[in-house]
Amino acid sequence: MRTDTAQPPRPKHLGDYQPPAFLVEKASLTFALDPEATIVTAKLALRRNEAAPADAPLWLDGEALELLDLAIDGQPLNAEDYAVTADGLSVKAVPDRFELTTRVRIAPAANTALSGLYLSSGMFCTQCEAEGFRRITYYPDRPDVLAPFDVRIEAQDSVPVLLSNGNPVGAGKLDGGRHFAEWSDPHPKPSYLFALVGGELSHVEDRFTTASGREVTLRVFVQEKDLGRCDYALDALKRAMHWDEEVFGREYDLDLFMIVAVDHFNFGAMENKGLNIFNASCVLASPETATDADYEMIESIVAHEYFHNWSGNRVTCRDWFQLCLKEGFTVFRDQEFSADQRSRAVQRIKDVRRLWARQFPEDAGPLAHPVRPTSYLAIDNFYTATVYDKGAELVRMMKALIGPEDFRRATDAYFERNDGTAATVEDFLSAMEEASGRDLSQFRLWYEAAGTPRLALEEETRQTPDGYEHRLTLRQSTSAAGEAVSDAPRHIPFRFALIGEDGPLTGEQLVELTGEEQEVVTEGLTGRPVVSALRGFSAPVRLDRRLSLEDRLLLLRQETDSFARWSESRQLALDIASALAGLGDLAEPEETAARYAGALGEIARESTLDPAFRAEMLRLPSVTDLARVAPVIDPDALTRGHDALKRQVAAANASDLSALYDGLAQDEPYAPSAEQAGRRALRNEALRLLLASGEEEAAERAMAQAEAATNMTDEAAATAALALADTPLRQAALDRFYDRWQSDPLVLNKWLAWQAAYPGKTALDDIRALTEHAAFDIGNPNKVRALIGVFATENLRTLHRADGEGYAFFFDFVRRVDGLNPQVASRLLTAAESWQRLEPARRTMFENQLAALLGDKLSDNLFETATRLSAKPSSGP
Ligand code: TRP
Ligand code: ZN
Repeated sequence: MRTDTAQPPRPKHLGDYQPPAFLVEKASLTFALDPEATIVTAKLALRRNEAAPADAPLWLDGEALELLDLAIDGQPLNAEDYAVTADGLSVKAVPDRFELTTRVRIAPAANTALSGLYLSSGMFCTQCEAEGFRRITYYPDRPDVLAPFDVRIEAQDSVPVLLSNGNPVGAGKLDGGRHFAEWSDPHPKPSYLFALVGGELSHVEDRFTTASGREVTLRVFVQEKDLGRCDYALDALKRAMHWDEEVFGREYDLDLFMIVAVDHFNFGAMENKGLNIFNASCVLASPETATDADYEMIESIVAHEYFHNWSGNRVTCRDWFQLCLKEGFTVFRDQEFSADQRSRAVQRIKDVRRLWARQFPEDAGPLAHPVRPTSYLAIDNFYTATVYDKGAELVRMMKALIGPEDFRRATDAYFERNDGTAATVEDFLSAMEEASGRDLSQFRLWYEAAGTPRLALEEETRQTPDGYEHRLTLRQSTSAAGEAVSDAPRHIPFRFALIGEDGPLTGEQLVELTGEEQEVVTEGLTGRPVVSALRGFSAPVRLDRRLSLEDRLLLLRQETDSFARWSESRQLALDIASALAGLGDLAEPEETAARYAGALGEIARESTLDPAFRAEMLRLPSVTDLARVAPVIDPDALTRGHDALKRQVAAANASDLSALYDGLAQDEPYAPSAEQAGRRALRNEALRLLLASGEEEAAERAMAQAEAATNMTDEAAATAALALADTPLRQAALDRFYDRWQSDPLVLNKWLAWQAAYPGKTALDDIRALTEHAAFDIGNPNKVRALIGVFATENLRTLHRADGEGYAFFFDFVRRVDGLNPQVASRLLTAAESWQRLEPARRTMFENQLAALLGDKLSDNLFETATRLSAKPSSGP
C-alpha cells in the first residue's frame, strides 16, 4: 500500500539496470507456521558481487515484515548499524563474505493481497512472482540473484502436508502436537520461484521416465473432495513432459514434480521449481463439472507451467523488463503443444482470436507498451496480453524467418549457453542470429516499439498474352500509442498465395517486408487471382485492403488456408454488423448479410470439413468484438447491428442448423478429446444460433438439452444460451443450474458469469444483488473475475448505461477490491482500456469517474493503471 507517509512511488527504468551488490550462495529458511503469527528465520550466505561497485551497501527488500532479530555472523546488529524502511533494510558496513540471520513475523491470515504467504481455504500457500518473496523475509528479491534453498517447515499436526521446492530430505515429530518437514532444492533459483504449501491435502500420483532414464514421481495435491478431478491434469502433464523432450529436447531435472490446487489465486498458475501452484479452476476437471473449453485450458496451462522449467527456471530473466523472455517464449511453446495435441488449424484460429480480443485493443489504447517495456511502477501490471501473446507471436515470426531446423538449433544453443543464469532478450536474439546466420537487428524493433503496424494491400491484375499478371503492393505504417512510439518500418514476414475462381493458382510464398513498401509481381497466371493474405497470421499486423464482395465471397469458398478463411469470414461479419449498426461504409448491408448467411450455411453443411473448424466459422463476433473495431463506441447501435446480423444468419439457415443439431447428437461416453469436443462445439453453436432466431421452440430445445445433459459442455452451452436470451425460460434455466450446483463453488462461477453478461434491463440490479449472494466472495479473484470482470468486458450495455449507473457501480467495486487485493483491482480496471473511444456523453461520465478515483488513496498498482488510462490519446486510431 502506498500511504501518505511512504515515499511517492518511483518508476523503474530498463536503462537503470545495475548488477546486484551481493549474491546469495545459500538460503536456509525455517518457517514456524501459524495463521496469525508465522515466524520466518532466514540464514543467508552472502558474498559481495565482483561485478558491482566495491562500496555498494547491502540492500534487502522487505515489505509488511516485523523484524525480530538481525545478526551478521552470529553478532546481533546495533540499531545504528542498519536502517529499516517501508520497503527494505540496509546495512552500512558489512564484510565481503558473511552469514546474515534475520527473524521476522508475518500474518498469513491477514494477507488478502494473495502475494507472499497467505491462507486459502485454511491452507498455507505462497505466490512470490513477481515481488512477493519480500513479503516473506528480507532478501535481495530480484530475478538475477540465484541461490540453492534449504527449507524447514514446522506446523501443528492439523497441518499435515508440508511442501516446498526440490526434494524431501527429512520429516519428523516435534513436541506440543507439532511436526516438521525439510526440503532441499539443489538448483539455484531466484526468490520468485520459491514456494511453500501447508495444509490438509490429498494427492494422486503417477510416474514418468525421462528420455535419459530418470524416474520422476508426479503428484497432484488437492482437497480430498477434489480427488476425482485430477486425472486430466496428470495426463496432460505426462504428455507435456514427453512433448518437450521430442520437440525441444528438454528433460525434467528433479525426482519429484508436484502440482497443488488452491482456491484463491491472482493468476492461472505459477511455475515454482518442482512445486507448481495452480488456481483450482485451471487444474480440476471432471466430465460433469468442466467443459471442453475448460479441459483445453487445463491442458495448455499445465503444459505452460511445466515448460517454464526450462524457459523460465533453468534460464531465468535478468530483470522484470525481460519478462517476455520467459512468458512470450513459453506461450509460444504451449501453443505449439496444443496444436500438436489437437487441430493445428483450429488452435491457430483460437490463438489469433484471443490476440485480437486482448492484445490489439491494448496496443491501440492508453495502456499500450512494448513487448519489452521500458518503465513500470508495479511490475504486476505488465503481465499483459502484449508481453504474453504478442511476445509469443514474435517468437513464431522468428521461427518463420529462420526456418524450423535453425530455430531448433537456436533454442538448443539458448538453453545450453544460458543454463543456470539470468538472461536477456538480447541473449535470445543472438542465439537466433548465430544459429541462422541472419541479421535480426531490424526485427528487434518488435520488442522495443508499442503499437500494431498496419499493412495496406493494393492489387492490380492485367491480362497479358500468356495469362494474367498480378501486381501486389505492400505498404506498412505504424502509429503507435503509449510509450516508445516508433514509426520505423518493421521486419514483417508476409505469407500469401493467389486464389482463383476454382482454387489456388499458386503455391504459398513468404515475402519479407523490411522497407515501407514492396511490390510482388506474379506472371503467367491461368486465371484472375485474389490474394489470400497473411496466411496463418504470419505477423501481428492489421490488414488494410479493399476487396469487392464477390472477391470476399470467393475467398470464403476457395481459401485453402483455414486461418485465412476464418479471418476473411470474421472480417466480413464485423463489416456487416457495423454497417447494420449504422457505422462503416459497407454498401447494401442487408443484401450483403443475406449473401454472407448463405456462404456460412454452405460451410456449416460441408461435412468433409473438421467440425471444430465449422464451429469457429459459425461463431459470430460478439458485441464486444464489434466495439473493439468500432471508431466510436455506441453500445446501443452496436447491439442493434450485432443482433440484426445474428438474426439474419439464424433465420436464413434455420432448417440446416436444426438438421445439424439433430445429426450431431452423441451417444458414446464423454471423452475430452479434440474430436468429440469439435462435434459438441458445432452442435452447440447451432443451438446458440437457433436461439437467436427468437423462436420459443429453440428455447425449449435448449432447456431439454440442459436437463438431459450428462456432461458440463452440453449443460453449460444450453444454460448459457438461455441465460443470455430474453426467453421466459431464462430464469428457470438459471435456477435449475443453481439448484444442481449450489455446493460447487467452481461450477457456480459459470452461473455468476452468465448473469454478469446478460444485457437485459434488470442486469445491474441483478449483478448488485449477486455481490451479496453466498456464491460470491470479494476475497476470491475467481469470483471477482466471473462477476465483475465479465460484467466490465462483456456486458457493454450495462457497463455503459446512459445514466452512468454502470460506471458508478464499477468504480465503487474497483475501490473496494483495491483495499483487499491491489493486483486484482488494477487488472479489473484495465477492462475499460478503450474508454477513450466512447461516444462523447459517456466518455465525459467515464472521465469524471477516473478523475475521482485518482483523487483517492490507491495502491501503487491501481494508481499506475488509473494514471496511464487517463493519459490523453497520442495519435492514431
Ligand atoms: N509466471 C506465471 C505464469 O505462468 C504468472 C503468475 C502467476 C503471476 N502468479 C502471478 C504473475 C502473480 C503476477 C502475479 O504465467
Ligand atoms: Zn508463464
